[in-house]
Amino acid sequence: MGEQDKKDKPSPPGNEVGKAIGRRDILQGLSTVPVLGLFGYAVKKQVDYENARLEAKTGKTAPASQVSDIHVALLGGGDQGEVLLNSMMKIPGLRFRAICDIWTEYNQKKLVNRLKKFNFEVNGYEDYQEMLDKEKDLDAVVIATPDFWHARHAIDCLRAGKHVYCEKEMSNTLEGARNMVMAARETGKLLQIGHQRRSNPRYLHCYERLLQEARLLGRIVTAQGQWNRSVKPDNGWPQRYLIPEERLKKYGFKSMQQFRNWRWYKGLVGGPIVDLGSHQIDIFNWFLGGSPSHVMASGGTDYYEPATHEWYDTVLAIYEYQTGAGKARAYYKTQTTNGSQGYFETFMGDQGTLVVSESEATYSGSIYREISAPAWDEWVQKGYIAAPKMQAARSEEAAAVLDVRESVSPDEHRIPIELTDPYHKPHLENFFNAIRGTAKLNCPAEVGYETAVTVLKVNDAIEANQRLAFTPEEFKI
Ligand SMILES: NC(=O)c1ccc[n+]([C@@H]2O[C@H](COP(=O)([O-])OP(=O)(O)OC[C@H]3O[C@@H](n4cnc5c(N)ncnc54)[C@H](O)[C@@H]3O)[C@@H](O)[C@H]2O)c1
Repeated sequence: MGEQDKKDKPSPPGNEVGKAIGRRDILQGLSTVPVLGLFGYAVKKQVDYENARLEAKTGKTAPASQVSDIHVALLGGGDQGEVLLNSMMKIPGLRFRAICDIWTEYNQKKLVNRLKKFNFEVNGYEDYQEMLDKEKDLDAVVIATPDFWHARHAIDCLRAGKHVYCEKEMSNTLEGARNMVMAARETGKLLQIGHQRRSNPRYLHCYERLLQEARLLGRIVTAQGQWNRSVKPDNGWPQRYLIPEERLKKYGFKSMQQFRNWRWYKGLVGGPIVDLGSHQIDIFNWFLGGSPSHVMASGGTDYYEPATHEWYDTVLAIYEYQTGAGKARAYYKTQTTNGSQGYFETFMGDQGTLVVSESEATYSGSIYREISAPAWDEWVQKGYIAAPKMQAARSEEAAAVLDVRESVSPDEHRIPIELTDPYHKPHLENFFNAIRGTAKLNCPAEVGYETAVTVLKVNDAIEANQRLAFTPEEFKI
C-alpha cells in the first residue's frame, strides 16, 4: 500500500442494502422510514448531515429532493481502491455497481465478493470500455489505477457522461493532465482530484480560520514539508494469481514485478517526490496562496537497486513563491530509507509557526506564538486553538547554561480538530455532495493541474541540475 491509508480499516458499510429501490427514487417524506427500510434510513441520515453541514457553513439548507442515490463504479481495485471503497461504504446513498480491475483473479474478485456480501448487485470487469458500454446507468467512476492510466481512464469516463473522482497524481504527464481539464470542461462533468487534505477538516480550519481570518502566522516567510518512509521490500504476489504475460503487456506492464511495483518505474509515474510529495506540495500552493516562481532540487536513486527503482528514492527540493505579502521559500524532502518523524508540513511567519499533518498519529496539529506577537487569548476563547501548553524552561530543569542570545521557546497551542473518519472520507463526501448539487468540489481539475505542474518540475530540475523558473501561464489552461 502506498501511504498511511492502510489505517482505513474495513468496517460494516453505512448503506448495506444495495438493491430493492428504483434508481431515480427521489426521497420525499422522510418520515417514511419503515416503508423505505434501511436504505431510506441511510439517506435520511445523509440529508440530516447535509443540512447540518450547509447550515453551519452557509446558513442554507439543501432541499431533501436533491438527495438521491448515486450509482458508482471503482476503476482500479488495488490498495488505494480498497481504501477508497472502505471509506465510500461509510457514505450513505451510494450504490456500487461495478469493479473494474485487470487483476481479475485477485483484486477484482476480492472487492466484487466483498460488495456482494453487502447485497450490492455488482459486476466485475477487466476492460473499462466494456464496463462503460454495459453499465449504462452509472453516475460516477472512482479511479485508483496507476498514474499513467489516469488521463485515458478519466477522459473516457467523462466522455461517457460520468462524474469522475481520480486519484492523485492527476497524470504522470502534463499533457495528460491538461487533456483531463479540457475533457471536464467539454463534458460539463465533475472531475475531483484525490488530494484529500483539501477536504480534511483540520486543514480547512487551519486555512480558513487560523491563516485567513485570524492571520496568526503574520507574514509567512518559509514552509517545510517532509515524508520520511522506512525501507520497504518490493511488493510480491501469490504465484497462483500470476497475470498472464499477454494481459500484462496489453495494459502497459513489462512483468509481474513491474506491475506490482509500478511506483518506481519511469514512464508510469513520477517517483516518490510525486507519489508522496504532491500531497504536501499541494498544501504549499494552497496555504501560500498561489503557485511558485522557481524550483531547484537534488535527488537520486541513492539506496535502492536502480534496475528496479528507476525513480529517485531521495529528493530535496526548494521552491520560491512570490506571495501577496512578499517572498516565501518552501523546502520539501522525501526519503524512503528512514521513517523517523513521519510526514507533516510546517509554515513559519513573523508571528507564529504552524505544524500540521494528515496523520492523526504523529503531528496532527499545533501552532506556536512568537513571543513578540499580539496575544492569542481571543482565538483561544473562540475555540480556534487550545490554551497554551507552556514550554518547560529546559535550563531550569537540566541546569544547563543557555546562551543569552537564544530566542525564547514559544508556547504550543494544539489545534482542536480531530478527524475521526477515515482520511479519504471527507474528500469523497465532497465529491458526492457536489454531484448532488449541495457542495462545490474542493479539488477540481484546475487545482489538480496546478499541483501537477508544481510537482512534476522537480524531476526536470534534478535532471537539468538547475534552478528552473515557472511562468504564470504554465499553470493556466
Ligand atoms: N490519495 C492518496 O492518499 C493515495 C494513496 C495511495 C495511492 N494513491 C493513488 O492511487 C492509485 C493506485 O495506487 P495503489 O497503491 O492502489 O496501486 P496498486 O498497484 O495497489 O493498485 C492498482 C490497481 O489498478 C489495477 N490496474 C492497473 N492497470 C489497470 C487498468 N488499465 N485497468 C484497470 N485496472 C488496472 C491493478 O490491477 C491494481 O489492482 C495511484 O494513482 C496512487 O498514486 C493515492
